[in-house]
Amino acid sequence: MQRREPHLFRQHPRLAEHVPWMLLGGRRTPIEPLAALGREAGGLRLYVKRDDSFARDAGAPAGPGATRAEVAGAKLRKLEFVLADAVRRHSDVLVTIGAFGSNHLFATAACGRELGMRTIGVTMPQPSQPHARRNLRASLAVGTELSIARGAPGVMARTAWALGRTAATPGVHPYFVPPGGSSPLGVLGAVEAALEIAAQVRAGEAPAPDYVFVPAGSCGLLAGLALGLELAGLGALAVGVRVFPRYGCNEWTTRRLAGAARALLERADPGVGTTLAGRSVRFRMLHDFFGAGYGRATEAGRRAIETVSRLEGLALEPTYGAKALAGMLAFMRAPGRSRETALFVHTCRVAPNERVVDAPALGSVPRRVRAFLESEEA
Ligand SMILES: Cc1ncc(COP(=O)(O)O)c(C=O)c1O
Repeated sequence: MQRREPHLFRQHPRLAEHVPWMLLGGRRTPIEPLAALGREAGGLRLYVKRDDSFARDAGAPAGPGATRAEVAGAKLRKLEFVLADAVRRHSDVLVTIGAFGSNHLFATAACGRELGMRTIGVTMPQPSQPHARRNLRASLAVGTELSIARGAPGVMARTAWALGRTAATPGVHPYFVPPGGSSPLGVLGAVEAALEIAAQVRAGEAPAPDYVFVPAGSCGLLAGLALGLELAGLGALAVGVRVFPRYGCNEWTTRRLAGAARALLERADPGVGTTLAGRSVRFRMLHDFFGAGYGRATEAGRRAIETVSRLEGLALEPTYGAKALAGMLAFMRAPGRSRETALFVHTCRVAPNERVVDAPALGSVPRRVRAFLESEEA
């Protein structure tokens, strides 16, 4: 079904007057049963929300020589709110943060370019994997200006410098997009995903889930899902599977983001406060599926990739989806859960982006970037 306006605005019409939003992803994403996987896992009730099909053909405006690339996945949901705000503020440079192979960095730069904005991406190396290399190639192809740091302190310094330098340039208006797109506005993208799930349940397209699983990196998806499930009155528990170190991905960060998004909504439409009165946002984070580091494949993740590909024909990558699915399967196998229903949000489309695979010429990119693009899997 084609989307025209967010469920959020339909449910609370005053939000439309105050909350920026633009349509980037096309259709509502389907919920499908994972019957074969559920059977093999010992009789579990499992479903998948196909946010990997939440997609846009983005990049430079169409024309000879223009680079366009498909952006897909849950990151695009956040950008519908974040980039609408950047446009409203007449920004022309996006400054954001992400590892070399970040889905967020690529999605932001591709959509930003389409809207006439440059993107400065403060970035750092990560383990090399095919999906990460494709993302970095695609980020370069849509013109992302990389500022490469070695580690977290360098990232902060480079971000401050990029913002300061651009803000000091006459006529230039930078807009900061936090890592993962997880600003309070970005979190609303996941609130909207939860309302979409609730609408599908009400329409009889899917059973009401007891748990909704997502990978947790910058915690925006988990925070938004938790808030949205509460706002929809669905009674399901949002469960995040941690894929990033604890310093950035933890319960406190998730509560803070959910609280900031809730406050934003309640300010924009007091009706939201009435709906949520007396309710707290509930979620759980699973920490045992992270492995040796961000972007480092785990054995359980490898098994999850193999099994879901063989039984369901679904493609997962090792950084996010594989760890989240491994976490969901272990959680749902615990005693007493076989009569409960779990919904896995598939947040990432894993497919070669043929149109950008060869771009740009590797001779023109920094040495460390070239080494990453030419490397084999770590
Ligand atoms: C494919 C994918 N899934 C899930 C996440 C996690 O979302 P969040 O950063 O909001 O926790 C990210 C980004 O970090 C991602 O790229």
